[in-house]
Amino acid sequence: MSDKTHLVDEITGHRRMRRNRKADWTRRLVQENRLTVDDLIWPIFIVPGTNIVDPIKAMPGVNRMSVDKAVEAIKEAADLGIPAIAPFPDVEMEKRDPTGSEILQRDNLINLFTSAAKKAVPNIGIITDVALDPFTSHGHDGIMRDGIIVNDETVDQVARAAVLQADAGADIIAPSEMMDGRIGAIRRALDSAGHQDVGIMSYATKFSSGFYGPYREAINTGGLLKGDKNSYYISPANATEALRDAALDVDEGADMLMVKPGLAYLDICWRMKEAFGLPTFAYQVSGEYTQIKAAAMNGWIDGDRIMMETLLCFKRAGCDGILTYFAIEVARKLGRS
Ligand code: PBG
Repeated sequence: MSDKTHLVDEITGHRRMRRNRKADWTRRLVQENRLTVDDLIWPIFIVPGTNIVDPIKAMPGVNRMSVDKAVEAIKEAADLGIPAIAPFPDVEMEKRDPTGSEILQRDNLINLFTSAAKKAVPNIGIITDVALDPFTSHGHDGIMRDGIIVNDETVDQVARAAVLQADAGADIIAPSEMMDGRIGAIRRALDSAGHQDVGIMSYATKFSSGFYGPYREAINTGGLLKGDKNSYYISPANATEALRDAALDVDEGADMLMVKPGLAYLDICWRMKEAFGLPTFAYQVSGEYTQIKAAAMNGWIDGDRIMMETLLCFKRAGCDGILTYFAIEVARKLGRS
């Protein structure tokens, strides 16, 4: 019997990683993570009016939609099996003021959309944000007094806004404004209004990031914003602080956690999932979407492939799901394969 052992067998001790990769069927058999339609949350932009589908220049393929058009769009999302949406309003400029008081109007744009959506498409989850930035004249997420974003007054307001959003039919409140104590305050407010079943997805670790640029164009806050959000968002340099911030949210009663932005913060996703074991989501934000789209439109990268790869990587990093502007595209693609 001739010995066919090769030098490589001696080097590796007869172990060969490529055996499991040799054919499509072995690769499928050993695949550790998968992206499914159940992993997708679709962020959408709502504008006042009717019959409006208005392309957002910095986000090719993404539109601002009036309530009627958005309801049609989420019907398709529900039919594709997408579990939830996250609507953001582009509020009329004349309704924005220094305290974001419009968020406390029961029939404001976001609440109008939520109640219409709930009625028309009851089988899709609605996750609403209570940050004040779509409603403030300065583009900040909180109330500004003497140039400072005041914590406690903002918390009172977002807790009241959360109750109004839940009254309108929101299933999950996702506060993104990073004020201290907001999760506990929102939980108490929801419970005392009888909304024990409304969950809280904390934007637990929201970093002060350049990746939000196109979103600010989408809801027209970019031009308004004076200064930066460094006094309330987390520095991209800090991971331990991010974990500690998330721990407080867990203590205060968050049902789910989110990391935002996504791809540049996969280490945080992994550490949060390991540390708390709560359902953990990443927000693939506007700038991440735009980078992929722009390069693909120039023919410089394979956009479809990178869309699927980045989303799969969130799963590998421990995420239970992803908020992504690609949701519809991905759901269609997964439905086809
Ligand atoms: C603010 C908010 C931001 C996003 C959603 N809500 C960040 C910001 O403007 O500072 C970003 C979403 C995205 O970039 O896709 N509460």
